[in-house]
Amino acid sequence: IPVDPFDLVIFGGTGDLAMRKLLPALFRRDADGQIPATARILGLARTDQDTESFKAEARAALHKHVAVDELDSIALERFIERLSYLHIDVTDARAWGELVSYLNERPEHIRVYYLAVGPALFGPIAQGLAQVGLATTKARLVVEKPLGHDLASAMTLNRELSSVFNEKSIYRIDHYLGKETVQNLMALRFANALFEPLWNANRIDHVQITASESLGVGTRGSYYDTAGAIRDMVQNHLVQLLCLLAMEPPYKFDADALRDEKLKVLRSLRPITGRNVLTNTVRGQYLAHGPDAPSYLQEVGNPDSKTESYVAIKAEIDNWRWSGVPFYLRTGKKLRAQMTEIAVVFKEPAHSVFGDLETPSMPNVLSIRLQPDEGLQLVIMTKDPGPGGFRLRAIPLDMTFAEGRGSNWRMPDAYERLLMDVVRGNQTLFMRGDEVEAAWRWIDPIIEAWEASGLRPEGYDPGSRGPIAAVEMMARDGRRWREIEV
Ligand code: BG6
Repeated sequence: IPVDPFDLVIFGGTGDLAMRKLLPALFRRDADGQIPATARILGLARTDQDTESFKAEARAALHKHVAVDELDSIALERFIERLSYLHIDVTDARAWGELVSYLNERPEHIRVYYLAVGPALFGPIAQGLAQVGLATTKARLVVEKPLGHDLASAMTLNRELSSVFNEKSIYRIDHYLGKETVQNLMALRFANALFEPLWNANRIDHVQITASESLGVGTRGSYYDTAGAIRDMVQNHLVQLLCLLAMEPPYKFDADALRDEKLKVLRSLRPITGRNVLTNTVRGQYLAHGPDAPSYLQEVGNPDSKTESYVAIKAEIDNWRWSGVPFYLRTGKKLRAQMTEIAVVFKEPAHSVFGDLETPSMPNVLSIRLQPDEGLQLVIMTKDPGPGGFRLRAIPLDMTFAEGRGSNWRMPDAYERLLMDVVRGNQTLFMRGDEVEAAWRWIDPIIEAWEASGLRPEGYDPGSRGPIAAVEMMARDGRRWREIEV
């Protein structure tokens, strides 16, 4: 179903996010017929170029990031025609006039301002838009990580944005919320009667959330070294996954109802402070592997850096449902494989009627895979077939989401869903300001305790499962990490 007519203005229109994610996502929605005929896309940046060269750049980016069989030439030309470019220095007040005239050509359109620029410009751009009268009720402001560096800066940013835009017009993207599997987690929990009665400390032993990446920090070293895995991945993506898994059922699938429930989880996270940081968290940094695989320190060009490229955290939720159920989070660069998974590990049967079997029982595990092969797997115990002895075997009941959709079906990218939701005015999959602050409130003391300890992250080999200390952290609790495999 087509969305309402809109103008999308991308500040930072020539940047990596625009070229790699936003334009491909918009092209795909357009090719699927979801973008109305009059909708326009305007790239804004400091690069001195004209619309023609912007179009050429966009065309090259689409050829690079969209599969050949999706690049229907008629759809491509129609999409390119929607593009325009404005060379603008947003810190120069006079430059805004041209933007105003462009937008005023279509006063009836919804206006989306996507700030694909560094966070230092978020406040000034929001102010600039307001000063020239563009922060109207038809306007939506889209921002993306980093939303602050700590609680104090996140609060300042929220204040700056909310001084000109109403919370209902601010769309804070966490692209993990746009992933199909993440939305499926809500369907699984709230559209089935089967799981919810088991979804608590009586039946669940623990939860593991893993976002393992095989690549290193590459060319993003200067940003990454100021962030580290905890700010880059945990404060936003992993904490959001934890919230969706742990929250109470919202009374309705509505933006504020859902975000209220997530906020309660964030507020129930037990603070990890002082010495607990040594037992409940592990930091790692990848080492070099021969001359062609530089270490983290070499890649970021900072031999003294104590920034972590790996982090594991044992999180605990102090509320009735989850008391005593640890949520183990881990994420890292240059690990064994590219795999993102939420695993719910159930308790063992209360009593084993089978006595001492050669193959002992294993706990049931519900694995929710975000990538690769998005889908669900429920591991259950069965009898190994055959007339021999009575042996047990763990068998996965497997549901890969792409199956049954035909060979041409493609898993939509998170940005396709999120961009259309912005136009539709649906904030369900976006973070509210108070959520972002609550997440920082939990993260800040961890970072402070790391800094106070003066300790360095533990080195780990590229292609490995991460630091040994993370295995030890689990072993102390009598548990093991799930295998990182694809
Ligand atoms: C980004 C982080 O937010 O998420 C990157 O900045 C990370 O460091 C990426 O690689 C992972 O996203 P995805 O969708 O590939 O899991």
